[in-house]
Amino acid sequence: MKEPLQPQAPDGEAQLSYAWPEEMQSKLGKALFQATHNAHLSPQFSDEKLAELLEAYPREKLGIYRFPTYENASGKAEHGCAPHLTGAEILKAVQTGKIWLNLRAVNREVPEYKALADTIFEDLRTASGVSTLKEDMGVLISSPNIHVHYHLDIPLVCLVQLRGEKEIIVYPAGDPYVSSDEISDLVLNLKDEQMHYDAAFDSAATVVEMSPGVAVTWPQTAPHRVQNGNSMNVSLSCEFMTPEAILKANALHTNAILRKKGWNVAAFPKKMSVVTLFKAGLARVLKKLIKTSVQSPVPISFELQADGQIRPLLEAA
Ligand SMILES: [Fe+2]
Repeated sequence: MKEPLQPQAPDGEAQLSYAWPEEMQSKLGKALFQATHNAHLSPQFSDEKLAELLEAYPREKLGIYRFPTYENASGKAEHGCAPHLTGAEILKAVQTGKIWLNLRAVNREVPEYKALADTIFEDLRTASGVSTLKEDMGVLISSPNIHVHYHLDIPLVCLVQLRGEKEIIVYPAGDPYVSSDEISDLVLNLKDEQMHYDAAFDSAATVVEMSPGVAVTWPQTAPHRVQNGNSMNVSLSCEFMTPEAILKANALHTNAILRKKGWNVAAFPKKMSVVTLFKAGLARVLKKLIKTSVQSPVPISFELQADGQIRPLLEAA
């Protein structure tokens, strides 16, 4: 790991930087790597600026969620809306309530965030020597003490912590931490990202303490869960692919279809072999021939109101 960055407030985007470890060279997406950064020193993430961001972001695209408590780890997230609140009121509700906000694709929706995303991805490419594709940056703003349940993402993820503390608990990718049936159903859009959690998995987990100035990326499809500390959290969630990650995703897709057709194949490709490359190519053909289901979004079941009050909506929107 390189020396931590000097804590100097960036005047502009050009001074934002990330210090990734040298071992990341050519291993992006294959292991867990931590970096230090100085993005959290930017005034862009003050309460006032976050409220402005929530005003500028298209309200109909704002992801508002409530999670069951950690003890009820199998419970599903509830999806909400906030059509009548100001940005400042939404932020207040997060600070005092149990709310998780996701501003997806903020780099495309809000011009000021494009340069921020470009810096992150450029630093990842430079540090790893690997191309990044399908880049997408979201802003996550979440209440104190919230727990995000055990799940996995098909794209690679780089999480950049800006405000507050939290733990991200990352598990190895593959069996037994995720079953072949579960990953197959996920890539075929037959289920959501949440996976079956067993506390016995914890002995194999890596716990990363996230505080402002820390960034982390982990292996593709590694399941993880997140426990917020006793403070509002603000993070950037940067999703992307690499050429090898696309091959793996396509091989997962082919394996999932073969398993549904009764073939006895493991869902996770073991390594990038000729067979994996063939399966990745086959996925492009199969996707055209076999229509996979399109997962419908989680219906909106509550409205967030002033002071963080929750109004249940009886009819799904
Ligand atoms: Fe995730």
